[in-house]
Amino acid sequence: MLRNSIAALASLLGATSAFEFYTFDGPGSPSCHNVVEVHNATSVAEMASLVKDAARRGLQVRAGGKGHMWYDTQCSDDATVIIRTEFVNGISDFDLEGGSVVVEGGVTFFQLAEYLHERGANIGTGLVNWNITLGGSIAMGAHRTSLREDAVVVGGVLALDIIDGNGDVRQVERDESSEEWLAASTSLGLLGIIARIKMQIFPETKVYAMQTTLQENDVLNGDIYKLISPYLTANFWWWPSQHKFHWRTYDIVPTNTSSQLGFQSTFSVTALEAGAAVVLLNSGKYSSIPNLAAEGIFFGLWDKPNFHDKVTDAEITDWPIYGWNYDVLIGGLYPGQKPEWEYGLKGYTLELAFPVTRANEVLKRIRALFDAETAKGMPMASTYRSGINIKFGKAHFDLLGQVTTDTADGQDWSKGAIMFDFPSFRPSLGDEKRYNEAFYINLANTLVDEFPCRPHWTKNTRDVFKRAVKNLDPSYLSRFKAVRQKFDPKGIYRSVVGEIIGMYD
Ligand SMILES: Cc1cc2nc3c(=O)[nH]c(=O)nc-3n(C[C@H](O)[C@H](O)[C@H](O)COP(=O)(O)OP(=O)(O)OC[C@H]3O[C@@H](n4cnc5c(N)ncnc54)[C@H](O)[C@@H]3O)c2cc1C
Ligand SMILES: *[C@@H]1O[C@H](CO)[C@@H](O)[C@H](O)[C@H]1NC(C)=O
Ligand SMILES: *[C@@H]1O[C@H](CO)[C@@H](O)[C@H](O)[C@H]1NC(C)=O
Ligand SMILES: *[C@@H]1O[C@H](CO)[C@@H](O)[C@H](O)[C@H]1NC(C)=O
Repeated sequence: MLRNSIAALASLLGATSAFEFYTFDGPGSPSCHNVVEVHNATSVAEMASLVKDAARRGLQVRAGGKGHMWYDTQCSDDATVIIRTEFVNGISDFDLEGGSVVVEGGVTFFQLAEYLHERGANIGTGLVNWNITLGGSIAMGAHRTSLREDAVVVGGVLALDIIDGNGDVRQVERDESSEEWLAASTSLGLLGIIARIKMQIFPETKVYAMQTTLQENDVLNGDIYKLISPYLTANFWWWPSQHKFHWRTYDIVPTNTSSQLGFQSTFSVTALEAGAAVVLLNSGKYSSIPNLAAEGIFFGLWDKPNFHDKVTDAEITDWPIYGWNYDVLIGGLYPGQKPEWEYGLKGYTLELAFPVTRANEVLKRIRALFDAETAKGMPMASTYRSGINIKFGKAHFDLLGQVTTDTADGQDWSKGAIMFDFPSFRPSLGDEKRYNEAFYINLANTLVDEFPCRPHWTKNTRDVFKRAVKNLDPSYLSRFKAVRQKFDPKGIYRSVVGEIIGMYD
């Protein structure tokens, strides 16, 4: 009786009961704790009117893309309306000669690449992964891996239409002398919903992918800048218990170099492979041995090309691989296979960026921490199918970006950044913590405390963000805050990340 009348009163006041909203990992992996409504908007105008309505009702608002983020940092902990962009996905104004196209915020890389390829174009290196929205990746400063070309997606952006805190659309054009642009370039969704993006485009190209195995010492003591910077895009995958790295490079080739149509997949697995991996990795919750075994198996698998023929789906067995730009740099899922997380292979992650000038020092420090764990009788292994991802980003100046320059720390970020991207298996048993749980926490704390480093905005826990604020430039934060106050004076787009970095103090 009482319950009913409370419900009636709540609905009279326009309130609904709150629920969790999930990341791509689904139930058990909340991205928000206090969501009251989720809208599948279908146009920019509808998103704007939903914002006006939520603001009038005193609710918080956050955009929702494909949920390809890792922790509960999307929203604030106050009642929030999620406006999903999946169905706001128009592509228009294709102009290859002028070098641009306009996409709505919910367009995925996958969708844009297909559209452009059919018209003989691509977006260069401004791509991240197949099932992620352009709006979501630009908001959060997402990046590929390159020291030679722009690695951040926003590197290819010419203008952004943002729905501000009043529900009005504002256009911000690329202009490094404008505070609005420098804030919009990596906005964390705090200025509003990125509704439309004008992207640079280029004539379609073929590229190759090559992979070589390097001994750990040759990287730790090598010229890392020289191993990465000559290429269109390049990265390492680190296999700590194997003491080896895979070194992957890509570059453009003349279109007539090869007729091969290579198609990459980083996340496709068969049900059989996934089932075996879940059993092995779950037993690694209690002992190092299965984790070491898993790393050995994963290393062996990753040695071989993770490419199929796009037309026949036949496995490709020899390096190098050739194919169209997007198919080789990103690709997608193989027919009949699913991404690993849809089989219960869930993960934790951590990603920090350091000046590339300090790359050797950082990797050696991490090696020392691995060795200390071995000395304790608890050797570390990479429990992720593709190892530890070591990526790179060319410098790009803005206020909140991971690869910005001229910061108060006095470090040389101008040559770009090295990113330590450390995914690990999340056991589906008990407390879901890892065998070396304390090690993972200590590793993050040590790196944040000992090095100038910047967190990736969707790949870290609240604790890591809190600890990492000291490494951010206070003057850049206050410049961002000034723009934030103009775009969203009432703070309806607040998130815990925005709170932690002091945007609402
Ligand atoms: C398997 C996988 C691989 C990945 N690979 C990479 C990688 O190589 N490099 C890299 O940098 N990152 C990578 N990421 C991280 C990913 O790029 C970011 O988390 C990105 O923000 C996810 O975009 P989304 O469309 O899924 O947005 P969501 O996950 O739905 O949202 C992420 C955040 O962006 C906000 N947001 C979403 N859309 C908008 C919008 N239109 N306007 C304003 N704010 C918005 C949301 O409110 C939320 O705070 C990867 C993630 C996964 C799961
Ligand atoms: C893209 O991601 C969404 C959300 O995680 C999922 O439902 C969908 O199946 C994915 N699509 C592909 C092609 O992977
Ligand atoms: C929104 O779209 C998703 C598919 O992406 C669907 O699962 C969900 O039910 C839709 N929600 C509403 C309220 O229509
Ligand atoms: C590719 O085309 C260029 C220019 O048309 C030509 O010089 C070259 O020989 C061709 N290469 C191959 C492998 O056919």
